[in-house]
Amino acid sequence: MTVGGVDLRTLAAEHGTPAYVLDEADLRARARAWRDAWTQAFGVADVYYAGKAFLSTAVARWVHEEGLRIDTATGGELAVALRAGVPGDAIGLHGNNKSDAELEAARDAGVGRVVIDSMAEVDRVAAVAASGWGGDPARRAPVMVRVTTGVHAGGHEYISTAHEDQKFGLSVAGGRALAALEAVLARPELELLGVHSHIGSQILDPAGFTVAARTVLALRAELAERTGVLVPEVDLGGGFGVAYLPGEVPLDPGRIAKDVAATVADACAELGTAQPRISIEPGRAVIGPTTLTLYRVGTVKPVTLDDGSVRTYVSVDGGMSDNLRPALYGARYHAAVVSRRSTAATVRARVVGKHCESGDIVVHDVDLPGDVAAGDLLAVPVTGAYGRSMASNYNLVPRPPVVAVADGRSRVLVRRETVEDLLRLDLG
Ligand code: LLP
Repeated sequence: MTVGGVDLRTLAAEHGTPAYVLDEADLRARARAWRDAWTQAFGVADVYYAGKAFLSTAVARWVHEEGLRIDTATGGELAVALRAGVPGDAIGLHGNNKSDAELEAARDAGVGRVVIDSMAEVDRVAAVAASGWGGDPARRAPVMVRVTTGVHAGGHEYISTAHEDQKFGLSVAGGRALAALEAVLARPELELLGVHSHIGSQILDPAGFTVAARTVLALRAELAERTGVLVPEVDLGGGFGVAYLPGEVPLDPGRIAKDVAATVADACAELGTAQPRISIEPGRAVIGPTTLTLYRVGTVKPVTLDDGSVRTYVSVDGGMSDNLRPALYGARYHAAVVSRRSTAATVRARVVGKHCESGDIVVHDVDLPGDVAAGDLLAVPVTGAYGRSMASNYNLVPRPPVVAVADGRSRVLVRRETVEDLLRLDLG
C-alpha cells in the first residue's frame, strides 16, 4: 500500500515504527476545502486551524499557505505558529487559564485576537495591553468573549463544551456573557471584535452549530440594544466531525457552511442586525484524516472469551502513548495489514499496545486476516488529530515521528524521540 506515492514498507524501513504518516497533499486539500466552502457561503469568512489537533512548523506553514489562520491555546502552540512565519495578526489565542507570560507573548506578537474566557481575564488582558499591542503603543488588544450557549454537542462528555456545568466560557443564559461583553466595552485598552462559541468536538449533526449561531446572534443583538455597539465578528468554533470507521459519514464543509450561512442570514434578518463576519476553528476535520499511524505487529495471541468464542489479540509496538483516544474516550478506529496481501479468512481481532495496562487498546474490534503475524505492518487511519498532540512518554516510551509524504517522497516533520532525549531531562 502506498500513501503520497510512498510504499509503506519502504517508509517503515527508512523511518521505523511506530510512525505517524501525514499526506501533505491531502492536508492542503482539506484546508482549502474548508476555506473555499466558508468563503463561498458567506462571501468573506475566516477559517482558523485549531493547532491543538496537531501543530508543527511545517503544518502551520502549509495551512497558512492555503489561506487559513492559526488558532492556538497555549504559549507553546503560539511559539510554533510564530516560528513557522505565520504573522501575529493571523493567529488567535485561546485558553481558560492563560498565564501572564502567554498574554505578553500574544501582545508582543500582536496576535489578531485573544479569546477571553472569564470575567477576571478582562482585567488581566487589559493590564497586559496597557502598553499597547504588537509594538504599537496606541493599539488596543483585539478580543472576543467566549460564551456558552447551552448547546450540548459532541462525541463524549469530556469533549463537549457548551453545556453549563464545565469550565469554558461565560453563560449566555445566566447573564454572565453579557456582563463580560459590557466589561470589555468599558475598557479603553480592549477592542471588542465579537462573540465566540465552541460547542464540542467530533460533532456529526449540523443542528448544534445552527442552534448555537442563533443564540450567539441574539446575544450580539441584545448587546447592541443595550450599548449601541454591534460587534463585527462571530466565531462558531470547531468540532466538525470526521469518519473514523468505514461507512461513517463526515460533516461536509460545503453542506455545513451553507446551513450555517442560511441560519445567520435568517437570524440577522429577524433581529434586524447586519450580518457579522463569521469565523470557525476546525482542527480535527483539517488534520485528522490526513494521517495514519504505522505500527509493526509483535505478538499475536488467541484469547478464549467467556462465551467460548476466540478473540485474537494483536500487539503492536506503540499504543496508548501514541493514541490516547481509545483509552480516554472509548474512541473507535479501524486497522488493516498493509505490508502484504492475504487471502486468509478473517478473524475477530483487537489491536493492543505495549503498555502495562489492559486499557491500552488501539482498535477495539476489527476483522484482520487470520494469518496476521509478527512482522506485519498495521496501519490505523485517521490519527492526525489529537494523536501526536496528546502523545505521552508513558512507560518511558519515546514518542514516534511525524513523517510527511508527497509526490513519492517522505520527509520527517517531527523526529522520533530517543531514550537519550528522555534521559537528558533526568538530572539525577
Ligand atoms: N476551538 C476551540 C475553542 C476548541 O476548544 C477546540 C477543541 C477546537 C476549536 C477544535 O475542535 P475540533 O475541530 O478539532 O474538534 N482531545 C479531544 C478533542 C478535544 C477538543 C478540544 N477543543 C479528542 O481527541 O477528541
